Parts: sequence; C-alpha cells; structure tokens
Amino acid sequence: MNKDSATMLDRFLSHLESVFFIGLHDAEEIISNFHKEMSHGLAGEKSSLKMIPSFVCRPKGTEKGKFLALDLGGTNIRVLAVELDGNRNAVLTAANKSVIPQEMMAGTWDNLFDFIADCVLLFFKENDIGIHQGYSLTFTFSFPVAQSSIASGKLIGWTKGFTAAGVEGEDVVALLSEALKRKGASFIHVAALANDTVGTLMAKSYADPSCDMGVILGTGTNACYPEKIAHILKRPGLGASGEMIVNMEWGGFNQLQTNIYDNILDRASLNPGKQLLEKMVSGMYLGEIARLVIVEMIEQGLLFRGTSLSAFSKGYALTTEHLAMMTQGSDFFADFGLRDVTAADRQAIHEICRIVSTRSARLAGAAIAAVVTWMDANLESEHTIAIDGSLFEKYPGFQGCMSDILNDLLGDRGAMIKLDLAKDGSGIGAAIIGAVAAHITSR
Ligand code: GLC
Repeated sequence: MNKDSATMLDRFLSHLESVFFIGLHDAEEIISNFHKEMSHGLAGEKSSLKMIPSFVCRPKGTEKGKFLALDLGGTNIRVLAVELDGNRNAVLTAANKSVIPQEMMAGTWDNLFDFIADCVLLFFKENDIGIHQGYSLTFTFSFPVAQSSIASGKLIGWTKGFTAAGVEGEDVVALLSEALKRKGASFIHVAALANDTVGTLMAKSYADPSCDMGVILGTGTNACYPEKIAHILKRPGLGASGEMIVNMEWGGFNQLQTNIYDNILDRASLNPGKQLLEKMVSGMYLGEIARLVIVEMIEQGLLFRGTSLSAFSKGYALTTEHLAMMTQGSDFFADFGLRDVTAADRQAIHEICRIVSTRSARLAGAAIAAVVTWMDANLESEHTIAIDGSLFEKYPGFQGCMSDILNDLLGDRGAMIKLDLAKDGSGIGAAIIGAVAAHITSR
C-alpha cells in the first residue's frame, strides 16, 4: 500500500471512530432521555419505551414444584422442565431446543403455532412424559406483547425479523392453546405468558434477592425492572401498593444520534423507523452495520484493493459471530472467498469490528445506568443485573466495555452495579413465573 492510500485509510478509520463513539456527554444525554421516555411510557403518553406491565412481581425464593416452560426467542425455540426446591435453587431437569425455520418466521400464524405445538409434543415424547394428567406451561414469548393479565396478551408488532401473518393484534396465548388443541394436546394448559427479560430477572432474583433488573443482549435487546405499582399511572387498577415487573421494550428507544450506516440499515429493514436502539446494539444487526461500512470502503478503494465487492454485497452476509471471530484474533475471510488478505486490510477490518461492537456495549451500559439510576438515583443499594444473550456471554471484551462506561458515568458508585450472566435465564425464569402464577390464581 502506498503512503497516500495508507493516509486515506487512517483518515477514514478515525472518522469512523468519531461517528460511532459514545462519549460521556452522549451517555448522559441518553440517560436523561431514557428517564423522560420511561415517565411518559408509564403514564400512557407517547413514548418510544412501551413500559408494559407484566402482571408478575419478583419471587420470594420459596416457590416450589415442577414446572414446564416454552421459550420462543429470536432464533431458537426451547421446551424445558424445571424443578424449584423452595430454597432458592432451580434445576433444569429436561430441555429440547430447535432452530425456528425461516419459513415459519415469515409464514402464517397457523403454520408457526402448529410448529410450536409440535415442539412441545416432541418434548413430551423424547422425555417420556406421560399424558395422563394436566400440565401447566408458561409461554415465554420474546416480542412486544400488550399483556392484559398473567395469561393473556396481544402481539403489538413483530421484531427481530419475524413477519408471520395473522399474529399481530392477536392473543398469543389463545393462538398457542388452539394449536395445542389442534394437535390433540389439550391436556397442556397455558397458565402464564412472559417476556424473556422478565424470565431472566425472575431466574436470577429467585437465587439472589439483590437482583432487580433483567436484560437480554442477544439477537434482540430489551430490559425489565420492578416498578412501584403506584408509578404505573396508565393502569390505575393494578392495586394500591407493591411492585410489578415492567417490560420496557427498550429496543424501541429512539432518542439517539444515528449515522449514515444506521440509516441505510433501518431503511432496508423489515421494520423501518422502529427498534432503533435494538438496531444499534443487538446481535442481529452488528454484522450488517459492519458490512455496510466495508462495502463503502471497498467502493472508495480503501479495502481489498477495490476488488471482491460481490462477496460482501448480500445483506446480512456478515454476522455478529464473524465480528467476534475477528475480535478474537482469527478471521472470517475464508467464508467470503478472500485469500491473501494484506495485513493492512486485516487491521482495518479488526478496527471496524471494534468500533461497531464498542458502540453497542457502551449504549447497553448507558441504558443499564439509566434504569438503575431511575430506581435508585444516588446508588445507595447494590443492584445485580441479570443478563442473558450471546452478545453479553460470548463477544470478546463486550462485558469490559459495558463496565467501562458504567465507571465513567458513575465513578466509584459504579461498583454498586454487578453485571451477572443469567444463562438460560428466560427458560428457568418462565418456570418461576409459572409458580408465582399458580399462587396468584389459587388465591
Ligand atoms: C426484541 C423483542 C423483546 C425481547 C427482545 C430480546 O426486542 O421486542 O420483546 O425481549 O427482543 O429477545
């Protein structure tokens, strides 16, 4: 590479860094806007945070029994059996996992729910569970649902690439119950409905009472926390005192500075204008943001000597796993048919991955700081944040970048916030919700 090209490449990368950087001032602004949007959302006013009451509060840790859960996330569907010992221990006793085929995500309501019902029946068969008695199941449905009770709620709108027709506006518990009936499985009663963030919070707080926030950093991103019922102004009938977990749907937060790549991604997405925070943070989109940067650099002659555009021209060809590989020190070039990549190109791609993933982690950290300071403005107590999702669990350096921004924002008080992996949280938590729901309905 000659000296001029090297200078142009350096210039491009430092510009990129500045365009993606979330500084302290940006993070403080995000926190203040989060607080405004939370307040509007709780009051039922126009807000990019839906702030959905979940009809469940945190567990006591004494809940006991065997429970079934069905977890429909972004990429997989899982059926699980969980045993709670009544003494803060939850054990996964059986689990089946299937990938949701693309044609189900984009097909029709009956095909999707029949497929889900088949997965439940397969779980019964493979685990040799008899069908001679009734079973209660909690349905973790990881999409924005306007819940009207512990066991009913209508899908507001699909996220994370799902488009199955005939589900938006419908009660997803009714759709699942009907599908189970069609498949001859009426012995299964769908007793509760939950978001994955709520499951994650429930799972961790069953074991650890200092846990007061659930976060997902995976295909999508979202969070929940326990809110004082008196503050949920849009639902006056919920009771006079106590708390209820609120599903924020923070992926929809939109008071953000987007850049040219975010705007291109958004315009070409299945839900333009929606889920802006999710599109800047979550695993479904980070690879695509990096791909858009790479395409521009190839077009400007700054990468791969201006060749090989076709390998990167397909939307979503680059995934977050590819970015993680690069960050780890290996690379994804073979997947794109690239050989003899120069050291300068390799270094540039490495930088792109770092820039895109650092912004994601800093935004996630700022959003967590916003919720914690909403609950406890002066950080007087300890807060354990239960976090599930492959971005948090597996992306090299992601957790460190989140802690950095928390420390920058909160100084020593940042130590009051503990980020804690809640592996399989949403499934285990669903079982705990089942236990809490059984208590509510038997009262
Ligand atoms: C999307 C969904 C939300 C879910 C999150 C994480 O943002 O809308 O309900 O919690 O993904 O799976």
